Amino acid sequence: MMMEEQDLLRFDKTVQQWLVDIRQTLEKNLLANLLISEKKGRRDLVTNVDKNVEKILTEKIHILDPKAQILGEEGFGDAVRTMRDHVWFIDPIDGTMNFIKQRDDFAIMLALYIEGQGTLAWIMDVDKGIIYHGGPKIGIFANQQKLKTPQNIRLEDGLIEVSGGRLLNQQLKLVEIGRKSLGIRIIGSAGMSFIKVIEGKAVGYVSKMQPWDFAAAKVLLESLKMPFTTIDGTEIDMLSSNTVLTATPCAHQEIVHLELT
Ligand code: IPD
Ligand code: CA
Ligand code: CA
Repeated sequence: MMMEEQDLLRFDKTVQQWLVDIRQTLEKNLLANLLISEKKGRRDLVTNVDKNVEKILTEKIHILDPKAQILGEEGFGDAVRTMRDHVWFIDPIDGTMNFIKQRDDFAIMLALYIEGQGTLAWIMDVDKGIIYHGGPKIGIFANQQKLKTPQNIRLEDGLIEVSGGRLLNQQLKLVEIGRKSLGIRIIGSAGMSFIKVIEGKAVGYVSKMQPWDFAAAKVLLESLKMPFTTIDGTEIDMLSSNTVLTATPCAHQEIVHLELT
């Protein structure tokens, strides 16, 4: 069942308050006893904060939206196999390496899809306390400020956000894309990179990632009329790892059709 506008606004406000509260708790308590462990290697880390935040959000979603399925990076949710009904995505800390090393440029991301349609999303820049949120029916905001569609600039007139790891391995045409652009930028957090595109500070972002890395950004950017596809320009599968390309319509076409040199 699709949701009425008043329920969308209620969910949006509720989740924003969760994020504000979590940010306050992070500042006060959790950072003192940071426990770090490796997942798949020394560059793939997880902390007790990632796990705590996902646990808290999962419990809150269960109360707010009891029948929903939850797909969370750290495994506190469900084994989601279908996009039917309500599906929530959680990336409790996006940019864990930044969180550990810098204490900035990391995000908390959530998204709600209903019957496969991106409905609501939230990306919080935790350091700055700015929540990018909204959906196709209620508009997109940075905290209270309504956002407009970024200017439709060409690749050669903008900065392109990319994944550092993929660039090092010369994947995803990133060298060619970078050469055509005004310059490459690497932040180390998908969420923070998407924010640069949402704000019109970058012409686009290219990477390969998991559903919890892109679910929220897909809702926010598509609501702003920005293309959000695989690097081949095809539709993204919400339940598997995908290449992801989001950019101004102009740059999106240029990147999809860019030949390897
Ligand atoms: C990672 C970061 C990184 C991106 C990876 C993600 P995590 O998320 O967003 O910038 O290149 O694809 O997995 O592990 O810090 O949540
Ligand atoms: Ca994460
Ligand atoms: Ca992530």
